[in-house]
Order: sequence, then structure tokens, then C-alpha cells
Amino acid sequence: MAQPILIEGLKRLEYRGYDSAGVALLGCDGIKIKKTEGRISALEDILDKPEVCETFGIGHTRWATHGAPNSINAHPHIDYTGKIAIVHNGIVENYNTLKKWLISEGIQFVTETDSEVIAQMIGYFYAKVTNGQDDQSLNGQNKFEWAVQRTLRELHGTFGLAIICSDYPNMLIGARKGSPLILGIGNNEYILASDAAAIVEHTTSAIYLSDNEIVTVALDGFHTTTINNVAVAKDVEPIEFSLEQIELGGFEHHMLKEIFEQPESLSICMGGRLNRQEHRIRLGGIEKYLRELTRTKRLIITACGTAFHAGLVGEFLFEQLARIPAETEYASEFRYRNPIIEDGTVVISISQSGETLDTLAAVEEAKERGATVLGIVNVVGSTIARATDAGVYLHVGPEIGVASTKAFTAQVAVLTMLAVELGRRRLISTAQADKYITELSLIPEKIKKVLEQSDHIKEIAQANIEKNNWLFLGRGVNYPVALEGALKLKEISYIHAEGLPAAEMKHGPIALIADGMPAVFIATSGLQYDKIMGNIAEVKARGGRIIVVATEGDKEIMKCADHVITIPDVPDLLQPMIAVVPLQLLAYHAAVLRGHDVDKPRNLAKSVTVE
Ligand code: G6P
Repeated sequence: MAQPILIEGLKRLEYRGYDSAGVALLGCDGIKIKKTEGRISALEDILDKPEVCETFGIGHTRWATHGAPNSINAHPHIDYTGKIAIVHNGIVENYNTLKKWLISEGIQFVTETDSEVIAQMIGYFYAKVTNGQDDQSLNGQNKFEWAVQRTLRELHGTFGLAIICSDYPNMLIGARKGSPLILGIGNNEYILASDAAAIVEHTTSAIYLSDNEIVTVALDGFHTTTINNVAVAKDVEPIEFSLEQIELGGFEHHMLKEIFEQPESLSICMGGRLNRQEHRIRLGGIEKYLRELTRTKRLIITACGTAFHAGLVGEFLFEQLARIPAETEYASEFRYRNPIIEDGTVVISISQSGETLDTLAAVEEAKERGATVLGIVNVVGSTIARATDAGVYLHVGPEIGVASTKAFTAQVAVLTMLAVELGRRRLISTAQADKYITELSLIPEKIKKVLEQSDHIKEIAQANIEKNNWLFLGRGVNYPVALEGALKLKEISYIHAEGLPAAEMKHGPIALIADGMPAVFIATSGLQYDKIMGNIAEVKARGGRIIVVATEGDKEIMKCADHVITIPDVPDLLQPMIAVVPLQLLAYHAAVLRGHDVDKPRNLAKSVTVE
């Protein structure tokens, strides 16, 4: 029975999109569709009892692009003949043209989505070939598969697709271009999914489809071809994570679990890479590119969201530790600015999911312009991991909470390791490099001391919970931490927050300060401490509420702050990995106190595979 497996799988994928959901089952009498606005739980409320004869089915949880999130626009979509049903991730960029053409052929559309075009078009070609009008092009292929391929060749944009046809009750077709799709291979069962999380309960073996490939699954096995019907052989690969990793394990939310996992995830991420005996850091995946990196004239880092903030930390570190000019660009802007990529430029792309379309597009742009492109990615085998020339995996396990936490600290850890290693090769002494290696290995233990303050941080959130506007301020390498703190608060608490370089505040935003507006300062010891104390005084003098992340033992700061959170002492350049943790907790507690769904904040999706 397909239905329970579909629902279970959709629940595991719900973090990727959750405004509406639906399933289509191939059953005893054709295709049965159930879909609704809202979460999977709302879908469960309208489902019928599963039927034994329903062995094939498709399901979807949506993050709306074209068309409001309601039950009509929810997937699956069915064609005008009622024989073809599809679920689709991605965007059909030429859907308007195709829709107009199909309407001129007499087909009526029911939804406002771009995806419906795919169902209608497969239905259109399938009807033609079934009526014998296009018979000669079949070449022995089954009609369903032929109609799918014929349609996919017309689509511009991206798709991860699962398709069923009522005339083929024992068949399921999947196809991908730009949106991930894997086929889990179980014991007498196959599960097609856009994310391994939906599969691991059943199997840890899978094939990963590449762009423009189709898989046809039947009772007796599966075969893979291109959309031009050329056979392709695929290797069965292991899925690298287990069910425990994606369960809550006693925590109330995935986000909290992931925040608390950071000591362990960072140990795993850095463990085998910090080599004190050899006085160096080994990043196996990019070892071959180290010479090129050491000589590079310029590094461009591209990423989105939280990964972009990690990139900003990296930019600072590459310049400070290795004296390599570096700049971080929003991936979404990069390809539209006719980027200048000179000889000797290396591009580093950062992505937790490895699927963010904007980031992938930047990778492709950089490759086209001849740059070596390296990835810092969490999800093994993901599209960006495959598209880059080489890369470093984070190895922090699946991140389910939509607000990224443990991936951020690991991204910063990888960038720091790379900057130290390049620094060692270019200018810093072995003794200095050794010091960083030792300090990096101590970070996980130090994060534990921050996590112990979770209740204290909750009290700070509680004391300021009525405030709807916050500032986050940091200087130097901690400026991106301020940006990340503000982003976390916005994402899950829906509180307006701005991250700024602390000194920049006086050039405008200081006008906002009044009536106890919370201003969170990262005022840790070291570089620019005195300057930031000056910035704190400026806010205090204007009636702001001062919340400070300070270094343990700082007595001075107690005098001017309303609330203090301490972090253990670490060298300046390593502070971001620790200083961000209290800000993650602050956002988490604020969101819970405001009664929000922390793991599935409104309007967001974990990986955004549209532009
Ligand atoms: C989405 C998520 C963000 C994330 C960004 C980049 O917008 O909501 O939390 O930082 O994508 O994701 P990536 O998987 O590429 O790191």
C-alpha cells in the first residue's frame, strides 16, 4: 500500500515546503487524488483508508511560486483526460507560452500553477500517440514514457518530477533537471524522492539522477534513460545518514537539537582534518587544488542566506590569515552582473543543501567563465557538490530545522581551516598555524559552555519579548555574526532585526534607538574591543537596551550592559563560531515564547530550488 509510505515520506520532507500538500494513488479504479491547503496533518484528515490495490502513488508538499497556496494549486496535478498525474518541484519558465498553445488546442486549465502545464502536455501527447496520430515516433517505446520524454524536451526551467498514468497501473516515471531526485532501492520496493530523508526509513541504497535523466520504475525493476531516450547506466550508491539523525531525539524542535549538536558536529567536521603531528590542516577533497589556491590572486565566495554570512567570515579570514584578496557575493546577484573572473581567480561556493538554485547558477556562471570552482557543501552527492570541480563536505549530518545553525558553524570551521592552511603556506609561521590548530580543536568544548547558558538566554528573550525591532552589531570578523543573529531572529520569530557593523550605526540607524530598543552587541575581547565599547555607550546614551555577548571575565562590560551572555576566550579570528551560538539560542527562545513553529517558519523553505 503506497499511501502510508507517501505520508510518512512527505512528513520527513515537510521542512522543504509546507503550504499545501497532496497525494495521488493509482488504484483499483484509476487515479485518486487528495489535496489540501496547509500541512501534511491537514492532508491526513481528508485521506481515505489505504487500499491494498494502491501500490503506486505520488505525493508532494508545496512551497508556492506560481499561484496561491490553496487546495486547487496544490500538487498532484492531473491532465484533462484524467489519466496523467504529476508532482513537480522547480519552475517551468516557458509555461505561459506552452499554456497558451495547449489552450488553443482546446485544453482547459484548472489551476494557476506553472506545473499544471506539464500534466496537460503529457496528457496531450499521450492522447495523440494513443489515438495513433504519432505512432511512428514510438520506436518500440511504451506510450507513457514516450509522452513524458516528448513533453520534457519542450520545458525550459527546472524539474524534479514524479508521474503516473492510469493506463499503466504498475509504473512510475521520475525525471530531473536542476531539482534533485533520487530513487531509493529497497527490498521489493522503490521510492522516488527529492531528498534522502524520505527514503532512509526503507533503504540506504539509491541512485542519484543527473540532469535530463528519466527513471521508469515498474514491478520488475527500473531503467534509466536521458530525455532523448538514450539508455544510461547508474551506480547504486549508499545514502550516508541514518534515521536517528533526522528524528528529534528528545528535543522539542529540530532547531534546538541542531544547536545542541554543534560541539559534536564541529568535532566531526574538524576532527580528522586538524593534523597536529604534521602541523597542518588536511582538507582531502581539495588537496589537489591547494597549489592553485595558494597562488590564487583572488577568491570569490558565492552563497545565499546563512551560507552567505559564513562566506563573509571566510572573506575576512582569507585576507587576514593568508593575505588573499577575497570578496563574498550573493549568488543571486553574481551571474547577473557580468562578473569579472580573471586568470588566477578561484570561486568558492557554499551551500548547506547543495541544491539552492541561485547558488548553483553562480557555480555554472563561474565555470563558464573559466574559474576553478570549489564547493563547501553539507549534503553528500547534492547538485552543487557534483557541479563543482572539487570540494569539502561539512559532515554535520542532516539539518532539518529551516533556520540553519550547525551548518553555519561548520561552514565557518571549514573556511577557517582553509584560511589557516593557506596562511601557513603563504605567510604565517608554523608556530602560529599550530596555535590555530590547537585552538580550533578546543572550540567544541567551549561551545558546550555557551549551551549551558540556554536558560539564561531564554530569560533575556523573555525580558524583551514585546520588542518588535532589534539591532545586532559587531565589528570586523564579528560583523557577519551580527548579520546572522539578525537573520535568525527574523526567520523564526518574525521580529524585525537589522545586522550592522557597529560603527556604521551612527551614520543613520542610530536614529531608531529609543525606548529600550534592544541592541545586541558582540563585544568580545581582542581587536576593536575599545571601539565597540564606545558604540555601546552611544546606544546606551540614547535609551537603547544593551544585550552583550562578551568574553568570560569581562567586568567592565557588566557596568554598561543590561544583559550579558559570556563566551570562553578564543583568538579573535575564531570567535564567530562561538559568538553565533548565543544568538541562535536567543532567536530560538524568542520564537518559542512568541508561539511560532520554529522548525517551519512561515513563507520559508529549507532549500530553495527556484530563482
Ligand atoms: C534558504 C533557507 C536559508 C538558507 C538559504 C541557503 O533561503 O531558508 O536558511 O541559508 O536557503 O541555503 P543553502 O542550502 O544553499 O545553504
